[in-house]
Amino acid sequence: MKDRIFNFNAGPAALPLPVLQEAQEDLLNYKGEGISVLEMSHRSKTFDGIIKDAERLMKEVMGIPEGYKVLFMQGGATLQFAAVPMNIMQDSQFAEYVNTGSWSKKAIAEAEKLGRTVKIVASSEDENFSYIPGNISASQEAAYLHITSNNTIAGTQFASYPDPGRVDLVCDMSSDINCRKIDVSQFALIYAGAQKNMGPSGVTIVIIREDLLEKSPADLPTMISYKIIGGKDSLYNTPPTFGIYLIKLVLEWMQRSGGIEKIEQINRQKARLLYDAIDKTDFYRGTVRKDSRSLMNVTFRLPSEELEQKFVAEALENGMLGLKGHRSVGGIRASIYNAVPLAAVQTLVDFMDTFEKANG
Ligand SMILES: Cc1ncc(COP(=O)(O)O)c(C=O)c1O
Repeated sequence: MKDRIFNFNAGPAALPLPVLQEAQEDLLNYKGEGISVLEMSHRSKTFDGIIKDAERLMKEVMGIPEGYKVLFMQGGATLQFAAVPMNIMQDSQFAEYVNTGSWSKKAIAEAEKLGRTVKIVASSEDENFSYIPGNISASQEAAYLHITSNNTIAGTQFASYPDPGRVDLVCDMSSDINCRKIDVSQFALIYAGAQKNMGPSGVTIVIIREDLLEKSPADLPTMISYKIIGGKDSLYNTPPTFGIYLIKLVLEWMQRSGGIEKIEQINRQKARLLYDAIDKTDFYRGTVRKDSRSLMNVTFRLPSEELEQKFVAEALENGMLGLKGHRSVGGIRASIYNAVPLAAVQTLVDFMDTFEKANG
């Protein structure tokens, strides 16, 4: 490949080109300091500025209200599956989960592995996770209610969030964080691996209501304790410095691009273009109930698996990477995260048309 191509990978995924260019420019000599961010002490004044900027920008872009902290942790979203129950529920309590796909199931399994009592309050497993269940309510004694806002594999997304009353709402937002404007005050805790909408893999964003920090038991391993990591402003030990720096660049790019409202508008435009292309023919078949369709991961099938393989291969020949569905479900998946430009989706839609004419 001589040139960059359109990247529809599910994660790690496309990063905004201006972010990569800025990182490239800074790579050898960060702002005239003579060294790279990769080589810089995490205790230096410069890095302290970077991590503080990243937290401040996260609050600005996402509209995070007072009383919340943004942590940068390691271990991926998968570590959060354990960190959440270990920090914010007591052994005697139970937690409630909504099961909307593989990632919800993994979150549930991890809590159960720790010996915690988990109750499934709603599930879409009966129909292959092709929809988001409605009318979700939590019992008021639960330690928290856990949801996965966007199901990366199935291609479903909550259009609006359940209201759990007094119970804390916890959300795995790994694959749709900052894709649209949300009211953060609805949530007690949000976590997201950065590698889809926010930066590279290796850093996990945790947005936590400050009062929850006090719940972490004293005997938790240090690296999983929200209280310790939060108390040290994510600098208890060496954090993933380069990943945090890239998150800062992505957030600056979001601001320059018109903020979350503008990004949401473009995301809706991209998704509409693609879903319209699916809906206008019987050749392509969406796999998700229309009211549950994701803005980020668009999943569909072709008439046969042979045609799907051909579609993925020919798309690549035409400069479009990453369209193969997750290995557990097959089919086609186009991940159209914030950094995937409208032009990429337009190119894909044009290709779909040509492919159908040749093979339909
Ligand atoms: C919704 C969701 N949750 C959790 C994960 C797991 O994330 P990680 O690989 O950062 O542990 C993924 C990964 O794709 C995901 O899409």
